[in-house]
Amino acid sequence: MGNIHNNNLIAGDRLAPVYTTVELTGLVQKNRVHRDVYLDPAIFDLEMERIWARAWVYVGHASQVPDPGDYIGTSIGKEPVLMVRDKRARVNVIYNRCGHKGAKVATKPGGNTAMFRCPYHGWTFNLDGTLNATPHKCGYEDTDFDTSDPQFSMQPVARVESHRGFVFASLAAEGEDLKTFMGATLETIDNMADRSPEGEVEVAGACLPYLHDCNWKMFVENLNDAQHPMVCHASVGFATRALMKRLPAGAEPPKEAEIISPFGASYQFFDDLGVSVMPNGHSFMGGQQSIHSAYSDIPGYLDSMIAAHGRERTEQVLGSNRHNTTIYPSFTIKDAVQIVRVVRPLAVDKTLIQTWHFRLKGAPEAMLHRTMTYSRLINSPASMVGPDDFDCYNRMQESLCSNSAQWVDMRRYIGREETLGPITRAKGTSDLSMRNQYRAWLHYMAGSEAQETQR
Ligand code: FES
Ligand SMILES: [Fe+2]
Repeated sequence: MGNIHNNNLIAGDRLAPVYTTVELTGLVQKNRVHRDVYLDPAIFDLEMERIWARAWVYVGHASQVPDPGDYIGTSIGKEPVLMVRDKRARVNVIYNRCGHKGAKVATKPGGNTAMFRCPYHGWTFNLDGTLNATPHKCGYEDTDFDTSDPQFSMQPVARVESHRGFVFASLAAEGEDLKTFMGATLETIDNMADRSPEGEVEVAGACLPYLHDCNWKMFVENLNDAQHPMVCHASVGFATRALMKRLPAGAEPPKEAEIISPFGASYQFFDDLGVSVMPNGHSFMGGQQSIHSAYSDIPGYLDSMIAAHGRERTEQVLGSNRHNTTIYPSFTIKDAVQIVRVVRPLAVDKTLIQTWHFRLKGAPEAMLHRTMTYSRLINSPASMVGPDDFDCYNRMQESLCSNSAQWVDMRRYIGREETLGPITRAKGTSDLSMRNQYRAWLHYMAGSEAQETQR
């Protein structure tokens, strides 16, 4: 482990500060970060308390719980939670913890239930988490036990808000509202939903899980790292372009080639896309152009959009082509291909990435097929692109342990950004999005005072 911090956690005292503000500030400089941010379990525990328990974290989409009693199980940082639709059609997010002695109540990934029943002593809970009943009631008469006391419920998380069906929760009672937190990334979610003739999306098919043996930040940083595709994904880009060159003149390229080939595009292409960052660590690449903007038409889709929204509005919606949008720390979205990848940190060197696919309501089913094809080609553990990235994260996680050097660089195009209102932009291969993430990281971890020092 590195040598900056004072690693003196007191056993059993999980809230004891392991790092002082000064030490945390020392881990993040303007142009580099110390390797301990990826390696130290004590930093991971602090991140769970100071970032993941404070920020708005993605929970799920309301279409995953369409009917009363529908629920899914997931987590916010280290906390197991359930997203459940109650009898009044409200979507609640409650801790998956029994109000009696703390057992995990629901263990399936999801389902439908009239109420939750703890398998240990049989306490039951309503769909909003309040205590319904306890078996064999005698024995509590002379105590202060009160069934309406929230301490005996499956407690609700502090704050839940949603936008276009995307449900986020914060474990912190205080903080900015969801829309303020999201800033300009809200438009990415809007754009995905607006690509539906009905203005709505719904989750389709199962989750595609991919367990990564690396720190969660490596995945989040990769999303807007445009220095890597032409190197890391070179072989698949080369093979696809070679295949396209061999096609007879005028022949339509296979859809698969159309999806894969931009991953081998040039530095110039990615520089021209540009990267945009905003407060709270969020970022996106592209805008009018992205690696998705040259896809061929799917028969019937444009007509269905024009019929629903008119030509002008349709051109406006389809003319927005952001690449990855990252809503720090948990949520990444490709609006133009209707895919969401969710970050679930499990340990300092273990992260679950969950890919979810969305149907554009009212659009031809072929749109969903393209979404699924994209995921099989790019996001799946058996795909031709995702495992390239995965291999590089593994290499970093392994070799950052080397004592040969302490720092991870992020200085490319530093000082060459342009700021317009809340958005700062730079060339696409800039490290700007990483610098912006660590600015947010430091703010969460050590407060605004440390952040100013770092500047
Ligand atoms: S721990 Fe759940 S009923 Fe006892
Ligand atoms: Fe990649």
